[in-house]
Amino acid sequence: MPSVVNNQEKNITMVNLTINGREIKAEKNATILETARDSGIYIPTLCYNESLGPEGRCRLCLVEIKQGKRTRFVTSWLFLVEEGLQVQTETEQV
Ligand code: FES
Repeated sequence: MPSVVNNQEKNITMVNLTINGREIKAEKNATILETARDSGIYIPTLCYNESLGPEGRCRLCLVEIKQGKRTRFVTSWLFLVEEGLQVQTETEQV
């Protein structure tokens, strides 16, 4: 008989993305920051605090993302990962 944990794992939707060229599989509703940290990739933060809720003013956690042909900057702890997303944390602009 399958355990509850196994059933929950089957219901989690995963997406594939890259961070700094590294292929990563992440839960669909995870933020870029959570996914990076879970993967051992450092993104600096200042105003980010899980216990205090959204702030998003300092912009220290900005990353560069590429969706299709479009490139832009987003705050990594507010932006959710999605299939095919390309994230760069260490470009000159970042
Ligand atoms: S840590 Fe302040 S906006 Fe991201």
